[in-house]
Amino acid sequence: MIDIRYKSSGQLEENRFEKIHNVLFEDSQTASIAVAKEIAELIQHKAKEDQLCVLGLATGSSPIKVYEELVRMHQQEGLSFENVVTFNLDEYLPMPEDSVHSYHYFMKEHLFDHVNIPKDQIHIPKGTLSQEEINQYCRQYENKIAAFGGLDFQLLGIGRTGHIGFNEPGSHENSITRVITLDHLTRQDAAPSFLGIEQVPRRAITMGIATVMQAKRIVLLGWGSHKAAILKETIEGPITSEVPASYLQKHLNTTFVLDKEAGSQLTRIHTPWLVGSCEWSKKLKRSAVIWLCQQTGKSILRLTDSDYNNHGMSGLLSETGSAYDLNIEMFNTLQHTITGWPGGKPNADDTKRPERALPEKKRVLIFSPHPDDDVISMGGTLDRLVTQGHDVHVAYQTSGNIAVSSEEATKFLEVAYHLDKDSAAIKTLLDLNKKTSPSEIDEIEIRELKGAIRRSESLAATRYLGLPEDNVHFLDLPFYETGTIRKNPLAEQDIKIMMETIKKVKPHQIYAAGDLADPHGTHKTCLNALFAALDKLKSEPFMKDCWVWLYRGAWHEWELHEIAMAVPMSPDQILRKRHAIFYHQSQKDGVMFQGNDSREFWMRVEDRNNATAQMYHDMGLADYAAMEAFVRYQF
Ligand code: F6R
Repeated sequence: MIDIRYKSSGQLEENRFEKIHNVLFEDSQTASIAVAKEIAELIQHKAKEDQLCVLGLATGSSPIKVYEELVRMHQQEGLSFENVVTFNLDEYLPMPEDSVHSYHYFMKEHLFDHVNIPKDQIHIPKGTLSQEEINQYCRQYENKIAAFGGLDFQLLGIGRTGHIGFNEPGSHENSITRVITLDHLTRQDAAPSFLGIEQVPRRAITMGIATVMQAKRIVLLGWGSHKAAILKETIEGPITSEVPASYLQKHLNTTFVLDKEAGSQLTRIHTPWLVGSCEWSKKLKRSAVIWLCQQTGKSILRLTDSDYNNHGMSGLLSETGSAYDLNIEMFNTLQHTITGWPGGKPNADDTKRPERALPEKKRVLIFSPHPDDDVISMGGTLDRLVTQGHDVHVAYQTSGNIAVSSEEATKFLEVAYHLDKDSAAIKTLLDLNKKTSPSEIDEIEIRELKGAIRRSESLAATRYLGLPEDNVHFLDLPFYETGTIRKNPLAEQDIKIMMETIKKVKPHQIYAAGDLADPHGTHKTCLNALFAALDKLKSEPFMKDCWVWLYRGAWHEWELHEIAMAVPMSPDQILRKRHAIFYHQSQKDGVMFQGNDSREFWMRVEDRNNATAQMYHDMGLADYAAMEAFVRYQF
């Protein structure tokens, strides 16, 4: 187990851009276990000394697995919370304690209901105070923390605004517990779980920067690529109230615990040649040359020896000889990722192509987490695969039912009612569909209706692209069927359904969403389901012939140096893809889960596909209108 504690053994050369101690883990699961271990040891140490252990706690998605592990330690290893006193960072305002959105509810659900902490040792800011009560309440909150001798340990997450607690940009270093107006970006990030930004409270009560800074030990958790940019700024940038987390640079017992996606933009990871000598793997060479083009504004074949030398890459030059040879090698590497034949080009030499030529006609299985990711993320490639004669199947992993609004469902019910005015079933559905609040959970019948709407949209889109109905599979994985944003963990049944689908098709190619930035984590869970299924199936003979390609979802594209296959689209193909996306009518015109981008899905993806093509062009390669990109996953 990696020790996350800060040891002041002097700074390493590779960390010289960093002003906050940080530890990178392969994934958030192992990282969370390490953090929970440190907390547990502190609790036990304090118990031995007959002392209380005062913990500052956070909510949100980041600490969930830490709490899970603490609960496990309590249940299986007897970790006692009797000597634990907790102070939560924040609470929305206004917010009743019993609301599913309240941090009171969150803390009970994830921790307090499962451990033996005495109730009167729990403190969470109240979200129900009147304006007159708030100031005095905040002062009392501070005094209580002080009365317990201050926080022994503070657990933090970080918002994309750089907030810690709800200390948004502009927060002063001396701030203490108070009311704050939430940043628009913070409200957007919270919108999915509130089913729309209108429902997200505008204010919150939060511990201040000074409150947090007085903790004896601070651990901040950061998971996922969507946190990478703000974490780089916090760790490497100047201390500024614009990035409140940057104040932590002044706290000498702070550790940031990150997964590899969250740490991916740190200089030592992103551009290691700037911090010292490196091992020049093929992948690193590629990313360095692409970065150099972006820095100098030159295409690959125009890079000179001095460009390399002036940007910390003389080591690479001395390994490869001259810029001339290196440039050609890199140009060819990128060139070989481009293909108009995603299923392989028949009768062609395939030694330099991303896909095999044989078998000429492949069985292709496209996994789509929601019923539209297929056309949004790889509609152009799907179109080519069908046109080029492959046996293409699409498997929609989840029903996507929660993303259909009640208004959309009403439209369909009204048509049904018009056709059969006497139907009691339709009348019941019309009644059930009248929700009093958008965050109310739909009855099962309404969820089924919403799932059916998404099925018919998917059938229309795939029919348009020439897929027979028999090749379209709806898996309705059970983990998704909670009716809320929070999903169940993956279970045997989910993996079994995935395995059966793969066994039925026996594909030569699998495409799947490798998008880990999906705000609800559904893409990640769907990918984990695939990985688990592949692991169980890998000894099957047909799997020897199966290649797996990962596409990215609506939010993100692969970085240029990662791309192993880039499929160009002509202007006409872009229109066909757009048309296919349009069939997903329930996801158009102000969808429920817009995420943090006000453009519609087809617009985002067109911008993204254009940008990928533009990047290839900027490197000096051919000028296509748009491109879809894939990474190969070796299992
Ligand atoms: C939560 C809190 C916030 C979150 C931050 C990150 O109590 O104070 O600062 O830690 O918004 O949220 P997640 O973890 O959901 O990305």
